[in-house]
Amino acid sequence: MHSAKLGDLDVGRIGLGAMGMSHGYTGSGSDDAESIRTIHRAIDLGVTLIDTAEVYGPYVNEELVGKALQGRRDQVVLATKFGLISHTGRAAGSADSSPQSIRTAVEGSLKRLGTDHIDLYYQHRVDPDTPIEDTVGTLAELVKEGKIRHIGLSEAWIPTIRRAHAVHPIAALQSEYSLWTRDQDEVLPVLRELGIGLVAYSPLGRGFLTGALRTPADVEKLDDSDFRKTHPRFTGENFQRNLAIADEVQNVADQVGATAGQVALAWLLAKGNDVVPIPGTKRVSRVEENTAADAVELTAEQIATLDALPVAEGGHHTDEQMKMIER
Ligand SMILES: NC(=O)c1ccc[n+]([C@@H]2O[C@H](COP(=O)([O-])OP(=O)(O)OC[C@H]3O[C@@H](n4cnc5c(N)ncnc54)[C@H](OP(=O)(O)O)[C@@H]3O)[C@@H](O)[C@H]2O)c1
Repeated sequence: MHSAKLGDLDVGRIGLGAMGMSHGYTGSGSDDAESIRTIHRAIDLGVTLIDTAEVYGPYVNEELVGKALQGRRDQVVLATKFGLISHTGRAAGSADSSPQSIRTAVEGSLKRLGTDHIDLYYQHRVDPDTPIEDTVGTLAELVKEGKIRHIGLSEAWIPTIRRAHAVHPIAALQSEYSLWTRDQDEVLPVLRELGIGLVAYSPLGRGFLTGALRTPADVEKLDDSDFRKTHPRFTGENFQRNLAIADEVQNVADQVGATAGQVALAWLLAKGNDVVPIPGTKRVSRVEENTAADAVELTAEQIATLDALPVAEGGHHTDEQMKMIER
């Protein structure tokens, strides 16, 4: 596995998203043993960056990751997130990055993960009711205390990133970035100016770019708790229009002799060694397929074909969730 840099943090250039093992997608929580095997296989294949969050489950995804990492903690760069659960009594669903809430959150995450430090601790969503300076100031204290090693933000936009970085170096921004979600193209030059890495979440378009969902009936069959059943890109006319993107990714994959998912990842890897996709899967066979994208090289012509694709029809979250995303 090639390496990548998030600020001054070294990671394997493809990570593993653990969310779907417990939360959000069909089959979540149904086979923890396979999820743990998937984490172990990922580590054997050179993955170091393992991504979870307090809110996944909530809590159970961190517990699962902690269990999987027993005896392997020092082989990984362990990343988790706070800020979507309030520990100060704010209404459910409100962001809370107040110093008091962070202090409670970090102790819970350390316990569930079975570790004495978190390598990369992200604010999950910007909290409009807490100045970012107060949030990052508290995180800087946690760095000094040795409870966390590096600080990250998620779905923060440029002015907040600059303000945060002025308080303490930010190692990584984690935001949705993939062939069908390209708004990070605008942020990347700023991250490079500041020396911040970009962790690309949902790099497979929540599975859509792999070609796994081809018809409305495929979406209908998903679990009722699966986000995609109500996701604007997976429903109605948008779903039909977006199939043209998946078709084109498959065309390039056929030329390359790779899978469509691998091409979606290789397109991100071609951006540079400061862009780290964290594809999510709970299956050994898929973590093997996804990490093998490390060896897939696209030609300039293939990259140009992919660059020319339209972005997806439909927002990248529901309207309600988009209110928490800074733009
Ligand atoms: N910061 C944030 O706000 C935020 C938001 C969303 C996600 N994330 C993080 O980013 C990680 C990745 O994003 P994501 O899980 O939303 O989306 P993703 O990686 O784009 O796609 C995951 C989906 O694709 C399927 N899949 C994975 N590999 C596949 C393959 N080779 N062929 C066919 N299907 C495949 C998975 O199913 P199986 O599991 O059944 O294989 C799952 O349903 C998450 O796990 C989480 O850690 C962060």
